[in-house]
Amino acid sequence: MSKTALVTGASSGIGAEFARQLAARGDNVVLVARNVEALEALAQQLRDRHHVRVDVIAQDLATADGVQRVVQELRRRDLRIDLLVNNAGFGTAGRFENIPPDREHDEVMVNIVAMVDLTHAVLPDMVRRGAGGVINIGSTAGYSTLPFFTTYSASKAFVLQFSLGLWAELRGRGVNVLAVTPGPVKTPFFDKVGSSDAAIGPTITPEHVVRSALRGLERNRGYLTPGAGNFAMTHLMPRRPRRFMALASRTVTRSLADTVTPA
Ligand SMILES: NC(=O)c1ccc[n+]([C@@H]2O[C@H](COP(=O)([O-])OP(=O)(O)OC[C@H]3O[C@@H](n4cnc5c(N)ncnc54)[C@H](OP(=O)(O)O)[C@@H]3O)[C@@H](O)[C@H]2O)c1
Repeated sequence: MSKTALVTGASSGIGAEFARQLAARGDNVVLVARNVEALEALAQQLRDRHHVRVDVIAQDLATADGVQRVVQELRRRDLRIDLLVNNAGFGTAGRFENIPPDREHDEVMVNIVAMVDLTHAVLPDMVRRGAGGVINIGSTAGYSTLPFFTTYSASKAFVLQFSLGLWAELRGRGVNVLAVTPGPVKTPFFDKVGSSDAAIGPTITPEHVVRSALRGLERNRGYLTPGAGNFAMTHLMPRRPRRFMALASRTVTRSLADTVTPA
């Protein structure tokens, strides 16, 4: 029987590539994001090319009832999710006091709250069936304190810890969980940040990220950083003393201080 994957942030970048690779292997896909034109265009392409079922759910995941509306729509369409990809996300940069509070609120809603709520919505059924998977898109930014990219890096630290906690809870119960923590990836992400100065490390393609992620989930690796350069940078970098490392990072991200995050 075909499996069904739900991908958030499927209108662009890494999420769109997840949808493409999952459909190419025969999975049905549910595409979630705000840009309905982009979602519908991708959906039609995938139906034509791969003859799979593609559902579009246009939803703003920063809203208080965004996830609830997605879940209602899944029930209404009688869709059971075998793989959840929590990929939707964006970053804000600059001096904290200069970043519009609404943007940061939305960032926490999309990068953290929607991930936790959607996982609550689909995971219990996976556990009952003893089968399924959850992929959460973190970032190399989640391993370090990154001043002037503070809320984003903290949100991605949450993604990593949340995923690894679940991975350990669910080990041996048929449900695999993976945090994918890429460095810079060729997508519109940094245009939306308003600066590419936070793109630290070698840039890789969304295809590379998704290929590594799907393989890593199958092997239940818990977390992975695609690309040898970013893996080495992330895992060889000292984390302590924490105050010293936060100040050292500030020298690297200093140029982000004057970034104006687009609304
Ligand atoms: N590109 C990188 O260098 C990089 C590196 C590490 C991690 N990441 C992570 O990778 C993930 C995907 O980013 P990307 O690089 O593919 O960037 P992207 O091309 O800008 O895609 C971001 C996706 O998130 C969706 N999204 C944003 N706000 C949303 C909201 N309020 N409600 C629903 N969907 C929303 C966007 O869809 P709509 O605008 O249509 O809503 C879009 O589909 C993010 O979590 C990002 O933090 C990216």
